[in-house]
Amino acid sequence: MATSQEQLKQRAAQAAFDLVKEQLPKQAVIGIGTGSTVNYFIDLLAEIKDDIDAAVSSSEASTARLKQHGIPVLDLNAVSEVPIYVDGADEIDEHLRMVKGGGGALTREKIIAAVADTFICIVDSSKQVGRLGSFPIPVEVVPMARSYVGREIVKLGGDPVWREGVVTDNGNWIIDVHNFDILDPIHLEQQLNSIVGVVTNGLFAQRGANIAIVADENGIQTIK
Ligand code: A5P
Repeated sequence: MATSQEQLKQRAAQAAFDLVKEQLPKQAVIGIGTGSTVNYFIDLLAEIKDDIDAAVSSSEASTARLKQHGIPVLDLNAVSEVPIYVDGADEIDEHLRMVKGGGGALTREKIIAAVADTFICIVDSSKQVGRLGSFPIPVEVVPMARSYVGREIVKLGGDPVWREGVVTDNGNWIIDVHNFDILDPIHLEQQLNSIVGVVTNGLFAQRGANIAIVADENGIQTIK
């Protein structure tokens, strides 16, 4: 019987958990991303909650799940070091550059990724792509700048679609950009960031992952 996508996500989370158990220093703070794959990881992390100091979390949803398991969650401002950050992705390429933010948590995810020493990305193999951009690029905007940012995105060659009704944990809105032809993800990430009113965009190219754990039908592939 074919392995379901959920089973693959679970396997990727298990493999990351095994790696974290081995590599995370005792009583360290761990960075936690957002999404269905990370949820499996959080559930496993509960097993070693006494060996970690606390977590820093990229969303209210992950914070709630961590707390349900009795894992303390710290404000990132109270933390000087995050040795490991574990998160999923919507797309990942062979250079471990990613598109993230399908769940709308891109800004806090990018902040924790910037602080972390090692970013472990956990995905099922459907997220692996030759070129980023089939998944629309989420852009978090200050609400009053939505139309302006949309017009600037059109000038860059993208088709912006407002994720209507969604408000991020930071009180902002999301524009999903379709049909970008992404030849240089780092350049596009910078271009999007330089539009006034943009808080963050979901291209994680300047700071990609350090390790990708990919689950497919045949097992686990660890890419560094
Ligand atoms: C959350 O905003 C995203 O960046 C997630 O990391 C990404 O959407 C992957 O989510 P799943 O693990 O649910 O596929």
